[in-house]
Amino acid sequence: MSKAIRLWDLPTRLFHWLLVLAVIAAVVSGQLGGGLIDWHGRIGLFIIGLVVFRLVWGLIGSTYARFAQFFPTPAKIRAYLQGQWRQPGHNPLGALSVFGLLAVVGIQAVLGLFANDDIAFHGPLYDLVDKAMSNRLTGLHHLLANLLFLLVGLHLAAIAFYAIGKKDNLVRPMLTGKKTVENGEDARGGGPIALIVALLLAAAAVHAASGAWLPPPPPPPPAAEVPSW
Ligand code: HEM
Ligand code: HEM
Repeated sequence: MSKAIRLWDLPTRLFHWLLVLAVIAAVVSGQLGGGLIDWHGRIGLFIIGLVVFRLVWGLIGSTYARFAQFFPTPAKIRAYLQGQWRQPGHNPLGALSVFGLLAVVGIQAVLGLFANDDIAFHGPLYDLVDKAMSNRLTGLHHLLANLLFLLVGLHLAAIAFYAIGKKDNLVRPMLTGKKTVENGEDARGGGPIALIVALLLAAAAVHAASGAWLPPPPPPPPAAEVPSW
């Protein structure tokens, strides 16, 4: 008998839709550059906070948000490919894409911290590396943006395939949190204390990434003494 269960908790849903908005804003501001590059940096820091939040929530969030619940082992992937997967939550192939997206978005943002645009802007941790290294990391930042486009394209294609081919609307549960399933229980856990812990760790990560803890740059050398005549 089918029933509606609580699948995605509110923090997971908010995380997802904020990530979508922030990644779009980061890509647009990164491509346009110019006066938007400062915003690009701020949005990137926000993305670091989101990703760290999700990593912590994957350990202490509610049932279906936990990595252990959907970690894609070879046995699970085999069962899925043989059509024997009936559990709610991310399916084993979807889980691969979840980890791929989180990894690429996270690494991309960390690379940005050390990147420079050869004009006036550089990431907040730029001073920790030399210019040659920053240039290499900037090159990787450009390359990885393309991998991100590819993964997001696959993500959207998979969601369209589920909607059209399998008549399974995955988007509605990501909006409402509820899904009608044959077997499965309501998500549990992920209460207010877990939420506060995850938010605090995300804020700590943003602080670390912002470079606010770095010593201020040395003051400029005193002006050479001007002779009085
Ligand atoms: C997931 C987050 C991020 C995404 C998706 C992203 C994406 C991009 C994209 C698409 C570009 C343009 C690349 C091109 O023109 O081919 C770019 C450039 C750039 N990004 Fe990011 N970025 C992110 C995070 C950051 C962060 C956190 C910083 C630093 C605080 C940063 C610093 C830069 C810089 C300095 C450039 C200009 C590089 C240049 O002009 O050569 N990015 N980014
Ligand atoms: C920048 C673009 C996007 C990124 C980086 C992204 C990233 C992600 C991530 C990391 C997850 C895993 C969620 C979690 O467990 O925390 C996810 C799931 C999901 N995303 Fe996206 N997403 C993007 C765009 C979209 C869009 C535009 C839609 C809707 C049309 C969408 C619909 C979904 C759905 C339905 C799921 C759950 C899939 C399932 O049931 O297993 N995503 N996405």
